[in-house]
Amino acid sequence: MRVGEGPRPGSLDPIEIASRDEIAALQTKRLKATLKHAYEKVPAYRQKFDKAGIHPREFKRLEDLRKFPFTSKADLRENYPFGLFAVPREKIARIHASSGTTGKPTVVGYTKADLEVWAALMARSMRASGATPGMLVHIAYGYGLFTGGLGAHAGAEKLGCGVVPMSGGMTERQVQLIHDFRPEVIMVTPSYMLAILDEFRRAGIDPRSSSLKIGIFGAEPWTNSMRAEIEEEFDMHAVDIYGLSEVMGPGVANECVETKDGLHVWEDHFFPEVIDPVTGEVLPDGEKGELVFTSLTKEAMPVIRYRTRDLTRLMRGTARSMRRMEKITGRSDDMMILRGVNVFPTQIEEELLKIETLAAHYQIVLTRDGRLDEMEILVEARPYAASKEERAAAARKLKEAVKNFIGVTAKVTVASPGAIERSLGKAKRVVDKRVKGSE
Ligand code: DLL
Repeated sequence: MRVGEGPRPGSLDPIEIASRDEIAALQTKRLKATLKHAYEKVPAYRQKFDKAGIHPREFKRLEDLRKFPFTSKADLRENYPFGLFAVPREKIARIHASSGTTGKPTVVGYTKADLEVWAALMARSMRASGATPGMLVHIAYGYGLFTGGLGAHAGAEKLGCGVVPMSGGMTERQVQLIHDFRPEVIMVTPSYMLAILDEFRRAGIDPRSSSLKIGIFGAEPWTNSMRAEIEEEFDMHAVDIYGLSEVMGPGVANECVETKDGLHVWEDHFFPEVIDPVTGEVLPDGEKGELVFTSLTKEAMPVIRYRTRDLTRLMRGTARSMRRMEKITGRSDDMMILRGVNVFPTQIEEELLKIETLAAHYQIVLTRDGRLDEMEILVEARPYAASKEERAAAARKLKEAVKNFIGVTAKVTVASPGAIERSLGKAKRVVDKRVKGSE
């Protein structure tokens, strides 16, 4: 398959193009088994179900899932480290964990069979992105407790690709190896891809002449404007991959390169719901809210109605029968409220990338002046537009756009190229300097 064309018939898992009825039947069967598995093997789930007055035997059809209680990050913390495991410790083949900003890390476990499903879904995700057996894949997601590196690694091997297990960091070396090894595929966070782009330039190598054809980017929110930027700069396809460690890791949903119209949720392994984040009520497809997942095949750590805090909407399938989720606009945790207006970093990203003289490196600083919250947008000028006058003009333009299109007043500082710290993995978009509890 050439990148950009549809997949060759027969190369997909049959379920990817099955009828909705077939998908629903499989989900119903698997949900039934998962609810029973969680109830029988995990005391924390048994207590939660009992408290809610619901038993797995009352699950008959997909809608019945709504009667079951949600699971949240707090449940993982309370059961730290292994309390949510549904198999004996000896059956655990791998552990991953995310650091989290406060408190204990969230720990997740996998059996051998879970790792096989994960590799297969990562391979499916990479194939949807346009990767084919025999391609060389440069992996710059971090290896270690983070699920990005090892998840991508297993998927690439499963698909029959060659792997360069580079991990994150050492940006100079990244560029040298991409230049010398000539990989067709790169897997990395979109923000780190921009740091790699800078380094291409610094090294005097034209990024458009690189061997890269496909980038599989995720682990943080990024906009379609950012996609356009990366595709233009590298002359490559930029495809979105989504996942979270609590549910599996990368490969829960992925875009198809031929449509790039949102991420197909691999619904044969994860049942998605979108809820109103305040009332918890399930919203119909098409309405925006918080994404919730129930695992359908996980052995070591089934998750029932896990609240991701990610905001999106579900849409019917296009390139595959499985439903799509819209590109994530942000997490409920990232939402800033300024004088009553809700703002996400991705909205700022959209606006600043419309201004030609601004680069895609930015940070949002929140401060409190008396009782009022203030927002400052720190953004870099493009190298060719770094004069004082050009920077001032760009700052004025962005301030105006943010006021007109988002509805908030922000201070804008346009810094010189390279002034904002580069991320080596997930970018830190918001720096909150407000003193907590000062009101
Ligand atoms: O970030 C897994 C991953 C690795 C996904 C590599 C894709 C690529 P966690 O560290 O547990 O796992 O963080 C999960 O990251 O709830 C989202 O808020 C965010 N996230 C992940 N993918 C995307 C994406 C990995 N494509 C959290 N778009 C999730 C927006 C994303 N946000």
